[in-house]
Amino acid sequence: MGRLAITGNKRPLRGAVKISGAKNAAVAIIPAAILTAAPVKIENLPDIRDIQILIEILTSLGVRTSWEAGTLEIDASSMTEWKATYESVKKLRASYYLLGALIGRFGRAIVPAPGGCDLGPRPIDQHIKGLAALGARVDVEHGLIRAEAEHLVGADIYLDVVSVGATINIMLAAVRTEGKTIIENAAKEPEIVDVANFLNAMGANIRGAGTDVIKITGVNELGGVTHSVIPDRIEAGTYMIAAAATGGDVLLRDVIPKHMDPVVAKLREMGVTVDVADDEIRVIASDLPQAVDIKTFPYPGFPTDLQSQAMVLMTRASGSSIITENVFEGRFKHVDELKRMGARIKVEGRTALIEGSARLTGAPVCATDLRAGAAFIIAGLIAEGETVISNTEHIYRGYENICRKFGALGAIIKEID
Ligand code: UD1
Repeated sequence: MGRLAITGNKRPLRGAVKISGAKNAAVAIIPAAILTAAPVKIENLPDIRDIQILIEILTSLGVRTSWEAGTLEIDASSMTEWKATYESVKKLRASYYLLGALIGRFGRAIVPAPGGCDLGPRPIDQHIKGLAALGARVDVEHGLIRAEAEHLVGADIYLDVVSVGATINIMLAAVRTEGKTIIENAAKEPEIVDVANFLNAMGANIRGAGTDVIKITGVNELGGVTHSVIPDRIEAGTYMIAAAATGGDVLLRDVIPKHMDPVVAKLREMGVTVDVADDEIRVIASDLPQAVDIKTFPYPGFPTDLQSQAMVLMTRASGSSIITENVFEGRFKHVDELKRMGARIKVEGRTALIEGSARLTGAPVCATDLRAGAAFIIAGLIAEGETVISNTEHIYRGYENICRKFGALGAIIKEID
């Protein structure tokens, strides 16, 4: 169990930080690569635990991989295995993408029900409904999801909830399926567009990714491709919020500013200066932030994955702020730890009321999930004294070189144990 120690006292973060490739695009694109027997090269991958776990899973399925400095070469030509073991997938929520990818390649899959971050109830009924609509028989038994189909055929699928995972999983299963699949009420996240671009470059026929209607016309075969993953908008947003919370001046390099619109808008509403260029964003925060209200929504709404980090920023604001969490029902597990650091927060259902001008003090805290872990780093930076975060493996699941990156911006942060 790793721990991180952060010495706070509001030292402003200053300098530049390069943003890594997007975790949530990468964890879908890597399984998507097994849809072809031709060689695939994926570049700009973040060096994080989730990616290394995924590579281990592919290896256990007989896929040949070679990883070097953020580039992964995948050769799934000799792959015959369509069963993933519990041991390999239990640490990775996004292992559900193996379902769509294995069904797309072999017409069958056995994948243990996913693990990953505990954000409250996380059903996968929409994934299952989508695969069943394409003609797969899907059963969940003894913790395993079994899907099988002699013959998949395109279908019209209306998602009951806007789901990133279900949208991508259905895309993966449908690209090589005979006929036309239409996903309505699809999620519109940039990561979905990146996966669709990857698949189209392999020869798939997907139209409308990034809108709420995605049309997929099945093709017989997919070929090899070299693809570079888009920048991670959640990592970028984390550093933007950290800059704002510490009253710093931070330049983010290698971002797609359009993807950051909801975050840029909120920071500006709080009185933070945000300068946007072609692929850079500079955040300059001299005064105390103004209180604002945030409602999380699927893209292009404010991302739920930045909710806990934004909450820390709100503890510094002049006035009270309200967060309404509309995406995940139980995603306020970080609140109790922040309260132990001196935050004044009241939660009722999906709403949190955050009193500003709080005096945070360093404390031992436990990273309850990946993004909560990042929020505690920001809280540690603005708190008086030392904060020690335990359960840091959650943080390394999703943030590349987080100590080095924060350290280069002037943070006093070190790994202990
Ligand atoms: C993805 C992201 C995660 C992010 C989330 C919301 C990855 C690997 N993870 O997770 O970081 O926080 O999107 O932006 O990309 N739901 C159902 N039934 C389903 C599927 C989802 O009810 O079959 C519900 C969920 O419980 C949740 C909402 O739909 O309330 C959105 O979830 P979804 O978009 O599917 O999240 P993930 O894809 O798991």
